[in-house]
Amino acid sequence: MIVHDPHEIVTDDMFVELHGFVEGSDVFVKLEGLNPAGSIKLKPAVAMIERCERRGELVPGGRFVESSSGSLGVALAMVAAARGYHFTCVVDPNVSRQSLDVIRSLGAAIVRVQGRDANGGFLATRIAAVHDMLDSDPKLVWLNQYANPANPDAHADSTATAILRELGRVDHLFVGAGTTGTLMGCARHFRAFSPWTHLVAVDSVGSVTFGGQSGPRHLPGLGASRRPELYSPDAAAEHVLVDEVEAVRVCRHMAGRYGLLLGASSGSILAAVLRAAGRIPAGSRVVALSPDLGDRYVQTIYNDQWAAETYGPDALLPLLPARRNVAA
Ligand SMILES: Cc1ncc(COP(=O)(O)O)c(C=O)c1O
Repeated sequence: MIVHDPHEIVTDDMFVELHGFVEGSDVFVKLEGLNPAGSIKLKPAVAMIERCERRGELVPGGRFVESSSGSLGVALAMVAAARGYHFTCVVDPNVSRQSLDVIRSLGAAIVRVQGRDANGGFLATRIAAVHDMLDSDPKLVWLNQYANPANPDAHADSTATAILRELGRVDHLFVGAGTTGTLMGCARHFRAFSPWTHLVAVDSVGSVTFGGQSGPRHLPGLGASRRPELYSPDAAAEHVLVDEVEAVRVCRHMAGRYGLLLGASSGSILAAVLRAAGRIPAGSRVVALSPDLGDRYVQTIYNDQWAAETYGPDALLPLLPARRNVAA
């Protein structure tokens, strides 16, 4: 296959079957980290830029800004370089060192905020920094992933469509919530084409999106310190909050048991599957979306010292008994 630009490489047809993950059921993890941007955010990145182009807001040589915890920043930097735009990425201290280096290597400028907002997160601080930049540059375009309809559209058209095309019947679908673009796009598509699928939305403890108490979070991907404009509470049938330490333990388990090095949000999403395991009827087909792979997390969730210092010694405990005992 020959593509014109690297961001055209979208691998929407890759699922790994997780044998023995939920006894008596078929569990598939959809790997979104296999494209050149390394995460699910490549799809909304392309869709949001193309929406601006169609509306005449971005023309060659134009400038745009976005606030990102890392993955979207990488994807936007890649598309900006290929299409000749100047991109400024506003990040906070939760961004991984590696994502930051990748964004910089792709030629984007970086603005790093430091102070926590009133909710204890960084989102409001990042948005305030974006507004300051917009005030001083009238030609600067803000993509605003938390409210941009192209974000969920990308997932309805691509992510959700691919799941039903590749797997046919899906009884349970587990999706993480950051901007809720993935969740809202999947909810819309499944409501129309597979309304019997039980959709489970997964977020981190400390995020306010589902109405929980705000609190400190250390991992990028899931969560928000203010509810995203895109989010609608009736999109999912069930809402689950996962502690970061549980997500870390599931990630480390997946690496050791399946040879699958996944990103932090994948750990939260798979933790929600494990919690539901007892309620999932035998013979079900279950899909969990994995937004990115784990190579950008080797200095954090896969590093014993970082994990123990950040969450205490429990973060290093094995998750489940030996393989034989959990196999169906
Ligand atoms: C690694 C990772 N996981 C999950 C998400 C959440 O996806 P969404 O913003 O579509 O809710 C993001 C969003 O940035 C992410 O980067």
